Amino acid sequence: MSSRVKKAIFPVGGLGTRFLPATKAMPKEMLPVVDKPLIQYAVEEAQAAGIEEFIFVTGRNKTTIEDHFDRSYELEDSLTARGKTEALEEVRRFMPSPGQVAYTRQMEPLGLGHAVWCARHLVGDEPFAVLLADDLIMAETPCLAQMVDVAAETKGNVVAVMDVPREQTNRYGILKVNGDPDGRRVEIGGLVEKPKPADAPSTLSVIGRYILMPDVFGHLERHETGAGGEIQLTDAMAKMIGNRPFHGLRFEGTRFDCGDKVGFLEANVAFALAHQDLGDDMRAVVRRLCA
Ligand code: UTP
Repeated sequence: MSSRVKKAIFPVGGLGTRFLPATKAMPKEMLPVVDKPLIQYAVEEAQAAGIEEFIFVTGRNKTTIEDHFDRSYELEDSLTARGKTEALEEVRRFMPSPGQVAYTRQMEPLGLGHAVWCARHLVGDEPFAVLLADDLIMAETPCLAQMVDVAAETKGNVVAVMDVPREQTNRYGILKVNGDPDGRRVEIGGLVEKPKPADAPSTLSVIGRYILMPDVFGHLERHETGAGGEIQLTDAMAKMIGNRPFHGLRFEGTRFDCGDKVGFLEANVAFALAHQDLGDDMRAVVRRLCA
């Protein structure tokens, strides 16, 4: 089994009900933050971490994602004819090479664990990454690249983790911590999906970045349902604890929950403020709105 992480799964089969009606005919993952869809940020993060194969687990109404990662000859010809070289470069820059992208359909949104399981034949017997596009991370070193380094050292599972307010533990997969020697790399002793604040073993939560060993497919195979009646990835990961090293990485960077309206709007403001061309204008807008 190769130990280098070369493949990444992008589960994009969810219904995005929190963003209806915006997501009635458009996937949530195509919602833009400033000038790029969420899914493009996730793919670029994976590219920066050395990922070579991009596996999308899609569902109904997701064809715009396929179109986004495909050549658009008419558009490119028009941009060329009009001399719009910068715009042309922008639509070509992030394009994976032919054969690097694969799509499979989840058919029914039965949960994140089920979406990951749908990609089992495309992943095969090697470690792989999972990136949830609605967790957008602003970081100097992309979050997945930080995790790949830890996985190379530990030769085990690695998930990105962060502290959340105790009253929000029922929204996340929460860690039982076995060891926290350096405040960065946490040894995981247990995982609980969406515990009530009173029952949560910690406030350290798993966010949407994972590096997993292929053993997880064996656990997902059973299609056991968990919190919310969904097939949960957290429950399958919990079964791997004790068999192999399993670490949480307190990554460096800021995570925006773009699956939530306020988090999505916050991401737009933060990325616009950090944008080279828009930052100054945006600062003036924010000041005006808050005055
Ligand atoms: P969410 O839990 O945010 O669910 O999924 P959702 O359906 O997209 O959104 P809401 O809650 O109805 O607004 C987190 C990620 O997992 C994917 C989603 O597409 C999203 O990227 N997912 C979720 C699947 O691919 N399949 C599923 O069955 C569930």
